[in-house]
Amino acid sequence: MRAVVMRGTGGPDVLAVEEVADPPAPRAGELAIDVVAAGVNRPDLLQRQGHYPPPAGAPLTLGLECSGRVAAVGEGVDRFAVGDEVCALLAGGGYAERVVVPAGQVLPRPDGVSLTEAAALPETVCTVWSNVFMLAGLRPDETLLVHGGASGIGTTAIQLAKALGARVLATVGSAEKAELCRELGATAVANYHTEDFVEFVRRETDGHGANVILDIMGAAYLPRNLEALATEGRLVVVGLQGGRKGELDLGLLQAKRAAILATRLRPRPVAEKAAIVASVVEHVWPLIKDGHVRPVVDRILPLDQVAEAHRVMEASEHIGKIVLAVRPG
Ligand SMILES: NC(=O)c1ccc[n+]([C@@H]2O[C@H](COP(=O)([O-])OP(=O)(O)OC[C@H]3O[C@@H](n4cnc5c(N)ncnc54)[C@H](OP(=O)(O)O)[C@@H]3O)[C@@H](O)[C@H]2O)c1
Repeated sequence: MRAVVMRGTGGPDVLAVEEVADPPAPRAGELAIDVVAAGVNRPDLLQRQGHYPPPAGAPLTLGLECSGRVAAVGEGVDRFAVGDEVCALLAGGGYAERVVVPAGQVLPRPDGVSLTEAAALPETVCTVWSNVFMLAGLRPDETLLVHGGASGIGTTAIQLAKALGARVLATVGSAEKAELCRELGATAVANYHTEDFVEFVRRETDGHGANVILDIMGAAYLPRNLEALATEGRLVVVGLQGGRKGELDLGLLQAKRAAILATRLRPRPVAEKAAIVASVVEHVWPLIKDGHVRPVVDRILPLDQVAEAHRVMEASEHIGKIVLAVRPG
């Protein structure tokens, strides 16, 4: 099969498409997917740079999500059959013509979304759903602050929180991205280049602060995130773009009776991923079917242009998601 290989670690130019061996046949509880499209996520850039090695047993090929048709099913898989249109949460291997995945990480293509666009959903939706809703328990009467509102993660979080009745604030790096966030349902958006987000949140919440903050900046934003948090607020850290070691005022954390949570989806056990996927199919797929939530796809590039896809994401020229087309949908 054709797949993206890494000729070492480094910039986008280490990526190339080559012929490689097919993955082995699916074992019990697994299925094989003929990949139609693969979503690009920022963790793929970290893996390419050598900072995010795949967990033991995961495919070495990049790609945390894909869509396609079921090509073969292993023993005991009864929820899917050969030919079904699906998308899947992967521990790796999406940038290829075929991938094998535990059946619990596979979702039916949601109604109203093309098979190619469905590749943009599993990683971001599962990350946002498991963190903002399953873990931090955002409620409809609460305010969510989303950092990087125009990212793949951000565009998903804004739409989901809005669809479930919460108020959403966001930070972005440009006026164009601010506009998109408002269109998706954010009440107010701050440009982090020109405005301090702590002041912004205080102003927008009458001084109360945000009940939940979805953070992708880590250390660089830790003190200010705590300041921007409401009493009994929950800070959920999913990205460390601003570093991993920060200083924390535990007194302020106590005073606010607040909580800091941090997770990484890829290394979680298969059973935990299956529980997240099941919850997403139950709660999020109907919102997509009804048109309340949609994948925001910036561009679809052929697999051969994988290096360009990484360059665009690294430069933050995109809004929402970038998708690689592997074969015709
Ligand atoms: N823990 C997990 O399981 C998990 C899973 C998936 C992704 N992630 C993490 O989630 C983050 C987003 O991933 P993605 O695939 O959605 O990436 P992406 O689309 O490339 O988004 C990156 C975002 O970072 C924003 N950003 C950069 N500097 C910022 C700052 N100072 N303040 C606020 N925002 C800033 C950019 O905003 P502008 O372009 O507007 O500047 C951009 O929207 C990454 O850190 C990734 O590692 C974590």
